[in-house]
Amino acid sequence: MATDDSNDLLPVDHRESATSPGTAVERADALQNPGLPPHRLRVTDTDPKAAKRAERVIVALFYVSVVGSVFAMAAYFAFPIRPNDLGSVRLNNVFIGLGLSFALLAVGVAAVHWGKVLMVDHEGIDIRHPVHGDAPTQARAVEIFRQADRESGFNRRVLIRNGMIAAFAALPFPAIFLFRDLGPAVGTPAAAYSHTMWKKGTRLTKDPTGDPILASEVTLGSVFHVIPENLNKSEDVLEEKAKAAVLLMRLEPKDLHVSADRKTWNYDGIVAYSKICTHVGCPVALYEQQTHHLLCPCHQSQFDITREAAVIFGPAVRPLPQLPISVDSDGYLIAQSDFHEPVGPSFWERRGDYNA
Ligand code: FES
Repeated sequence: MATDDSNDLLPVDHRESATSPGTAVERADALQNPGLPPHRLRVTDTDPKAAKRAERVIVALFYVSVVGSVFAMAAYFAFPIRPNDLGSVRLNNVFIGLGLSFALLAVGVAAVHWGKVLMVDHEGIDIRHPVHGDAPTQARAVEIFRQADRESGFNRRVLIRNGMIAAFAALPFPAIFLFRDLGPAVGTPAAAYSHTMWKKGTRLTKDPTGDPILASEVTLGSVFHVIPENLNKSEDVLEEKAKAAVLLMRLEPKDLHVSADRKTWNYDGIVAYSKICTHVGCPVALYEQQTHHLLCPCHQSQFDITREAAVIFGPAVRPLPQLPISVDSDGYLIAQSDFHEPVGPSFWERRGDYNA
């Protein structure tokens, strides 16, 4: 028999839910809001002498921070970095680091100690509300700011306030001294990386011994780590080496695919390429004899030596710069000139036509 009860049209499982209040249950034994625990006074709330002692500790900490900042600045001059002296780099870093550590640590400890022992200690409840920028909200913000000023004693505790201001004023100065070292000591990066120690007639020598390399020593499949002759006599060995380091390999001349303007850049299949990866400058040091691929271990860029060190894999976007080489009358390998483009990673002043 037909019925007009709409519940009959629902699937069996839904008939109950269409008429019942559902499964939501309000528990009678729900946890009640326990409220805040009883307020406990601190020693500095009840003992003025303890409060005074704490104040002196905080002031002292802020001035320790000033001493740390001054120490870091003094260390910059007292332990200068000298060219080719790694010990001086370590001393410089250690003492500047110690000064800055004390400066920052002391400010942090002072601020925490101030908040814990001297600032007004009471529990506050801030009811959530929509964030508006209307006039009453702004007025309340100003009121809170004034209250915080009153309760922290920022204006009342002049010694602490001045100590804190002195600490924060002194903190940026070590940074100024450190950033000074980022200044253009050798002009722009373009100037710094466009020229290396290589020039016409410079002998290719083994790294690190500095022994010159006979072309006949470079057998098929071998690879040499190369530095320019007299590198060890230069003013800044590390910086010059970081730009001029080269890898030397010999391939069958028939395996080399060279462009017209580079026909004379290799000597009987011996080729020299910058060792500085064009991604972010790691040394490209892994040579795969069978494939003639150079691999950079940092991010796995691969360069094909048979095709002028073209990038075949990885994040590098430019081939490794090639050093044109030849031999002198004694059979030693020499450079024909410097690199024809800047070595190392790309930078913003790098001219587009270097990529051609
Ligand atoms: S530095 Fe060589 S791949 Fe990143």
